Amino acid sequence: MIISVIGVGYLGAVHAAAMAEIGHDVIGLDVDEQRVTALQAGHAPFHEPGFEEILRRGLASGRLRFTTDYADLAAAEVHFLGLGTPQRKDGFGADLSHLHAAMASLGEVLPARAGAPTLVVGKSTVPAGTARLLADRVERLPGVHLMWNPEFLREGFAVQDTLAPDRLVYGVSEPGTPTADEAVRRLDAVYAPLLDAEIPRLVMGYETAELVKVSANAFLATKISFINAIAEICETVGGDVTDVARAIGMDDRIGAKFLRAGVGFGGGCLPKDIRAFVASAEEHGVGEALGFLREVDAVNERRRVRAVELAREMLGDLRGRRITVLGAAFKPDSDDVRDSPALDVADRLLQAGADVRVTDPQALANAAMRVPGLAVEPDLETALAGAELTVLLTEWREYRDLDPRRAAELVAVPRLLDGRNVLDPQQWRRAGWEIRSLGRAA
Ligand code: UGA
Repeated sequence: MIISVIGVGYLGAVHAAAMAEIGHDVIGLDVDEQRVTALQAGHAPFHEPGFEEILRRGLASGRLRFTTDYADLAAAEVHFLGLGTPQRKDGFGADLSHLHAAMASLGEVLPARAGAPTLVVGKSTVPAGTARLLADRVERLPGVHLMWNPEFLREGFAVQDTLAPDRLVYGVSEPGTPTADEAVRRLDAVYAPLLDAEIPRLVMGYETAELVKVSANAFLATKISFINAIAEICETVGGDVTDVARAIGMDDRIGAKFLRAGVGFGGGCLPKDIRAFVASAEEHGVGEALGFLREVDAVNERRRVRAVELAREMLGDLRGRRITVLGAAFKPDSDDVRDSPALDVADRLLQAGADVRVTDPQALANAAMRVPGLAVEPDLETALAGAELTVLLTEWREYRDLDPRRAAELVAVPRLLDGRNVLDPQQWRRAGWEIRSLGRAA
């Protein structure tokens, strides 16, 4: 099938390459010329394991290309919308301006198919009600139908999550009607190889599909803040949050995943999605239903403050003290620093007057752009040299595998704050380190 993907940021670029990988003819569009040029040249504009491989394979096969010109999309039977919906600058709601602008431009090329069946499929994370609003506009054109098909990919696993997701969710205007059934059949044809692999596919109304996405992220954020709230208690009453998480996680009603206590969640999705969810509930007059998500956000924020306090407990006055921060990305296997707890804590240490040096295997260029004046050092050993305090904030494999004896030879003082609870405190203490962790009593 001929497919377009409008908006080739993280989600869209991976989706476009994945659709080419399963045999479609794909054209990715973005208004960012630099991004389009990079992708067309086979270069990933972000770090994502396995992405460049499928990108290059798609380009080489001739089934994948990129453009900035909407006119190039005229022949596509299916248009996926992969636009970003960032947090608004003037509040907590989602900024839908990219989505609306794209729909306006798409509206100009849709008539080119002269009434032939055309599917517009939203993938962006949006407040409930957005799909119906867009459908009212676009479905006035003969033959055009809109579906909402939220994306659940995780950074670092994006290719795998796109080609082998846990489930496919299809949002339609009215489930069970002939129009909806026809739209479902068309999207099934796009995803045929995934459906052949027996990936479950759920059909529901637009609003429900939109809510599935934000509810999933809200639940994940809540799980993380739940264990981080327990971490606060552990620090005070004298407990070990990693043991609590291990023990409660063995109850499969609770589950072990997303119970890793530390500096909390960040990235381009969880933080802004829970805020937009609350804002949207408030607009609908049901803000109290999601009041707990404000607390989820507040717990998350407090962990960052606590990490700085802990550094102060270990060092005393932070002014002029040499601190090495391990990690800038919001999580390992990513160069994304959007709302990164690691970078935020590094910045707070810097603001407190510390002499901070940050290292990260992938995210330093983005980190330096976000926090001007931050000293960055790509080489791990050089970064460790002379540190009076080492703070682990992103659990890259490189840091989890650090040899405490070798590291002790490099630093000025073997003193470590484990902000992700990934190092074995006993092993590090045996190697001569003073070590403190979030959520574990001293
Ligand atoms: C998240 C969701 O996991 C995806 O399912 C979703 O599709 C995506 O958002 C999205 O909406 O696009 P992602 O932002 O890539 O994916 O990252 P996660 O793996 O969810 O991690 C988010 C943050 O939570 C990271 O900062 C991570 O360090 C933190 N985290 C995660 C914890 O602090 N503890 C945990 O136990 C797990």
